[in-house]
Amino acid sequence: MSATPSGVLRTPLCDLLGIEHPVLQAGMGKSKGLVTSPALVAAVSEAGGLGCLGGTGLDPEELRETIRELRRLTSRPFAVDLLLPAKLAAADQSLERLRALLEREYPAHVRFVERLRERYALPKAQLEREYMVSEPLIRQQVAAVLDERVPVFVAGLGDPTEVVPEAHARGMLVVGIAGSVRNAVRQRAAGVDLVIAQGHEAGGHTGAIASLVLVPQVVDALRPLPVVAAGGIADGRGVAAALVLGAVGVWCGTVFLFAEEAWLDDAHRRQLDAAGAEDLVVSRTYTGKTARVYRNEVVAAWAQSGLEPLPMPLQWALMSDFVAAAEAAGREDLATNPAGQVAGTLRGLRPARQIVAGLVDGARQAIGRLGDYTRTEARRGVP
Ligand SMILES: Cc1cc2nc3c(=O)[nH]c(=O)nc-3n(C[C@H](O)[C@H](O)[C@H](O)COP(=O)(O)O)c2cc1C
Repeated sequence: MSATPSGVLRTPLCDLLGIEHPVLQAGMGKSKGLVTSPALVAAVSEAGGLGCLGGTGLDPEELRETIRELRRLTSRPFAVDLLLPAKLAAADQSLERLRALLEREYPAHVRFVERLRERYALPKAQLEREYMVSEPLIRQQVAAVLDERVPVFVAGLGDPTEVVPEAHARGMLVVGIAGSVRNAVRQRAAGVDLVIAQGHEAGGHTGAIASLVLVPQVVDALRPLPVVAAGGIADGRGVAAALVLGAVGVWCGTVFLFAEEAWLDDAHRRQLDAAGAEDLVVSRTYTGKTARVYRNEVVAAWAQSGLEPLPMPLQWALMSDFVAAAEAAGREDLATNPAGQVAGTLRGLRPARQIVAGLVDGARQAIGRLGDYTRTEARRGVP
C-alpha cells in the first residue's frame, strides 16, 4: 500500500477545515498515556487529514504544552477534543467527595470493587488525577484550548453552548458529536460548525443507533450544516459508504489504534489484535455511560453482579481506583480498553500516514466501482 494517496478525494469539508482529504482522526483520551500522541496527531495532519488530540486525560498545563509540541511538529490544522459534561456547571465534585459519597450511599457498589481487588490480589491504589469530574479543571482545559487558538475544537459528549461564541471570536471552528437526531439538533442549536454523527459500532462512548441508519437521518435533519460520519469506518469502503450516505467526511478512532504512532499499552494491543467484532461490547462498567470496550473479566463480573450502573461521574469514580490498582500491578488487561466493533477486522501496526492513504485510495476505488455499476446498468437499458 502506498504511503501517500494516489489521487484526490475532496469534499466541502476539505475547504472548511483547510485539509486535503476528508479524513479526521478521532480524539481519544485515556487515563494513562496518550492514545492520540502528538506524533499520531501530527502524522495524520501531515498526511493531509485532520489529526485530533484527545485532551481528556491531560491537566491544563500538560494540554497547553502538548498543543505547543503539536505546533512544533506540524504547521497544518489539527483539532483538540475534550469530553464536556452535559452542563459544565453540573460537574462540581472532586474525587475525594465522590469517594465519600460512594461509601455512604452505595456500599454494595464499593463492596463489588473491593471483592474484585481481592480476586486479583491487587494492592490498594488511588487515582491521583482529578480530571473529568471537576468543573474548575474542565473549565481550565477549555480555557487552554481557547488561549492556544487551536484550529478546531471538538466537544465530545457534552453541550458546547458556552464555548462556541468564545471559540468563534478567536477564529476557531467547533465540532459537536451526536448519536441521535435529537442530539444533533441540539448541537446545531449550540452553534457548532459541523456535527459528527456517530453510530453504535463506535469505540468509546456510543449511542444505540447504527451508523447506516443514523448518518442519513442526521444529514437530512441538519442540511445544510455539514455532517461527518463516525462509527465502524476503517477502510475505503467505509469512507465511500459515508459519502454516499450524505456525509462530507469521516471521523475514525479505532483504525488509528493500529497506528505505529498511537500509544496503546501492550496488553491492550494484544487484546485488540486477537479480537473478533463480537468481543467489543457496550458496557457501563467503567464510566456509567454506555461505552464500547473490549470484553474483559471485569466487564463480565460487572454484568453478573446485578448492580445498577451509577450515573457519571459516580461509576467512573467507583472504578477508577480499581483501574489504578490494576495498572499499578501490571494488570492492564483488567483496565478499560475502549475500541469499536471494527477492531475485529484489523490486525498489525502501520504508520498513520499509510492508514490515511489507505482510507483515501480505498474510497476512490470503491466510488469508481459504483460508477462502473451505473454504466453497466445504463448499457443494459435499465432506467
Ligand atoms: C480508545 C478510545 C478512546 C476514546 N476517547 C475519546 C475521548 O476522549 N473523547 C471523545 O470525544 N471520544 C473518544 N472516543 C471516541 C472516538 O473519538 C470516536 O468517536 C470513535 O472511536 C469513532 O468510532 P470508531 O472507533 O468505530 O472509529 C474514544 C474512542 C476510543 C476507541
